[in-house]
Amino acid sequence: MWWCLHSCKLINGSKQRADTLISTPMISPDYKYVVAIDVGTTSSAYAYAKKEDIDFDKNQVNVTCNQAWGVGKHNYMKIKTPTSVLLDENGELDSFGYKAEYNYDKRVKDGVNDFYFFRNFRMALYKNNPTSQMVIFDVNGRRMMVQTVFSKTISAFMKEFKESITNSGNNISSEEVRWVLTVPAIWSEAAKQFMKICAYLAGIPDNQLIIALESEAASIYCQYVQKRDIDDNAISVSKKGTQYMVVDLGGGKVDIAVNETLGNGFLREIHRPTGEDCGGNLINQSLVQELSQIVGNSFLKDVKRSYPKECFDIQRDFEAAMKCVDPFEENKISLRLPYVFLNIIRQEINQEQMKQILHLGPHCEKIIIENDWVYISSNLIRERLLQPIAEKIYKLIMNILFKIKNPRLTKILLVGGFADSKCIQEAVRKGFPSNKIIVPHEADLCIIKGAVILGHSPDLIQHDDKHDERVIREYYNSAAQTVVKNATSKKTS
Ligand SMILES: Nc1ncnc2c1ncn2[C@@H]1O[C@H](COP(=O)(O)OP(=O)(O)OP(=O)(O)O)[C@@H](O)[C@H]1O
Ligand SMILES: [Mg+2]
Repeated sequence: MWWCLHSCKLINGSKQRADTLISTPMISPDYKYVVAIDVGTTSSAYAYAKKEDIDFDKNQVNVTCNQAWGVGKHNYMKIKTPTSVLLDENGELDSFGYKAEYNYDKRVKDGVNDFYFFRNFRMALYKNNPTSQMVIFDVNGRRMMVQTVFSKTISAFMKEFKESITNSGNNISSEEVRWVLTVPAIWSEAAKQFMKICAYLAGIPDNQLIIALESEAASIYCQYVQKRDIDDNAISVSKKGTQYMVVDLGGGKVDIAVNETLGNGFLREIHRPTGEDCGGNLINQSLVQELSQIVGNSFLKDVKRSYPKECFDIQRDFEAAMKCVDPFEENKISLRLPYVFLNIIRQEINQEQMKQILHLGPHCEKIIIENDWVYISSNLIRERLLQPIAEKIYKLIMNILFKIKNPRLTKILLVGGFADSKCIQEAVRKGFPSNKIIVPHEADLCIIKGAVILGHSPDLIQHDDKHDERVIREYYNSAAQTVVKNATSKKTS
């Protein structure tokens, strides 16, 4: 039966957790590729490796990430693509990522607005026990089944992967792929199970699917980063007996895993993966609040509705500019304002009013608009935007270290896109001076690469029963069966 939740398998006396569902007899042993999909809060990616690309005995892992996906006219060299999906009027997939943003913007400017556009929608599953009836609203407030949005997103990745393999001159049949979907540890069990239903609806059978926790996947990858990416071997975590913490600092959440290296890539769970919704995206939200004090809320809403591309671009420029924010130096980050923004600002607010707001108000000297540039003081970013998040991250790590009270746990690895923030790195270093803080190269890709490795060897993490409070809910299991039955009968009718 598709949706029966399999009994746990004992590995060296420890139990395989039900939410990873990975070493069950249901997972087909016959596969050619493992493809991992990470639908992040702000950005998404997939990566893959053939069976022969992974050789655990030789300690070799060769994982391929998708190339800059659908960047079109943009010059972004990022592997991760924005978590934006455009569905047509019937709820069918139009496009995903940069392409979805481009297509949506074009439709808005052409005056046709009948498609559904969703951006940064993943956190809809946080703090919710989703059902097949649950709806979310697109950027224009129109309803769509959450299930449809997620399943179409997953199918966008499947399509993209298939195309890229075909373009490289290879053939692949759907039975030859083992899929791994990454999910945050902080999601409820129901939300994780919900992803399985969405994957099924996208065309991934249960026996070809693994659900992996993001911080755990990153932890697995950290076993392999030492030689290539970190000069100082002494700080690597692959030495048997090493205890370490992996903190995935994403856009939506912070996810933490604590493991001990058992050797040959195997890990033992020391603390149950946990986290909080305090990712880098909060900075964007705080910045919008600051800006709304200057130009007004309704102005920002109108601009967002009428000029999507300009808004996406300025947000990306802001994220890129954040890299220049030094934890110690006082400087200003500069962003070029799109012409349309300037025009509207000038219509709404005259020069004199602007001067008053900027020079006399709370943003005095902190936000300056000159010609077509806006300058934001790094002090404002550090103190008002980054500091509150840094404090949350500090508390989260502190709580776990306090609970574990293990002097052997000396290494903290920061992964995820937000780990690139020098200010956050510095805050963690300052908060935990006796710990070694490590930020691997390409920190944002550790999750997806680790998920591919986990897909090849699902038993790599030994979970400890006593840390595991999660129980799969029976009602959810039966709900899942109903959804699948319905979906199956729809497909065959
Ligand atoms: N150099 C940087 N400085 C500060 N923030 C950064 C930097 N680079 C990326 N970010 C932030 O990192 C976040 C994206 O990271 P990532 O791609 O790991 O998140 P995600 O996978 O989409 O989110 P999540 O894992 O929480 O669902 C964004 O909030 C982005 O603004
Ligand atoms: Mg992520």
